Amino acid sequence: MAKETLLLTIGVLGGTGKEGKGLAYRWAKAGYQVLIGSRYSEKAVTAASEIMELLEGESSVVGTTNQEAAGQANIVVVTVPYSGHRELLENVREALNGKLVIDTTVPLVPPKVSKVQMPPAGSAAQEAKEILGENVEVVAAFQNVSYEYLLGDEDIACDVLVTGSSKKARQEALTLVEAAGLVGWDAGPIENSVVVEGLTSVLININKQYGSTHAGIKITGAQKPSGS
Ligand SMILES: NC(=O)c1ccc[n+]([C@@H]2O[C@H](COP(=O)([O-])OP(=O)(O)OC[C@H]3O[C@@H](n4cnc5c(N)ncnc54)[C@H](OP(=O)(O)O)[C@@H]3O)[C@@H](O)[C@H]2O)c1
Repeated sequence: MAKETLLLTIGVLGGTGKEGKGLAYRWAKAGYQVLIGSRYSEKAVTAASEIMELLEGESSVVGTTNQEAAGQANIVVVTVPYSGHRELLENVREALNGKLVIDTTVPLVPPKVSKVQMPPAGSAAQEAKEILGENVEVVAAFQNVSYEYLLGDEDIACDVLVTGSSKKARQEALTLVEAAGLVGWDAGPIENSVVVEGLTSVLININKQYGSTHAGIKITGAQKPSGS
C-alpha cells in the first residue's frame, strides 16, 4: 500500500461499539492511524486500548470524542445506531466539511428489524448527505457485514457493496474495504443505498428463518480487474 495512504487517519464515530471496533481493528492492523470517537472520551480510550491489546504491535489507535475524531481524521466512518444518526451528524457537521464520510448505518426501526423501513430521504446515507451538505462526500458501505467477523483475523466470505455521492468517493471507500480484508464492489450512486441498507433487513430475516447469526452476500458472475 502506498505510504501516503497509510498516513491517512480514519476517525470512527461510535467506534466503541460492535461494528466500529471491528472496523477500527482491521484498519489499524492494515497500518492506518485510527481515532475511536465516542460521546464519552474515557469510553473511547478504553476501547482504543482494547484494540491495541488485540493488535500486539505498533499500530496507532487513539480514543477521543466524536467531535475530535471528526475534526482530526481525513476520512470519517459513522458506526452509530440509526436512533442517534441525525443528532451525531448535526453535532459534528462543521468538522466534516470537505471530508469523505463512510456511513455504515442501517435505518432499522425496532422491533421490526427484519422489515425494510427507509427514512423520507430514501436511505440513511441520503439523509446523511442532506444533513452534511454539498461539500461532504457520503458513501454507504459495510451494512451487510456482521461485526462478528471483523474482530477476527480470518478471511471474510462476504462482499461489501459501496454506493455513494461520487465515483471518486466510492473508489476511496473501496480502498478501505480492501484494507479491511474484504471484497468491495462499486454499486453505484447514493440513491442505490436503499438496496444496500435494505438488504440488511433481508439478511436479518434469513438469520431468523434459518437459525444463523451472520448471513451475508457474495457477488457472482462478475470479475474485478486484478489490483482493484
Ligand atoms: N453490529 C453489526 O453487525 C452491524 C453490521 C453492519 C452495520 N451495522 C450498523 O452499524 C451501526 C452501529 O452498529 P453497532 O452494532 O456497532 O451498534 P452499537 O454497538 O449498539 O453502538 C455503537 C456505538 O454507537 C454509540 N451510540 C449509541 N447510541 C447512540 C446515540 N443515540 N447517539 C450517538 N451515539 C450513540 C455508542 O457509542 P458511545 O456510547 O461510546 O458514544 C455505541 O458504542 C448501526 O447503524 C448498524 O446498523 C452494524
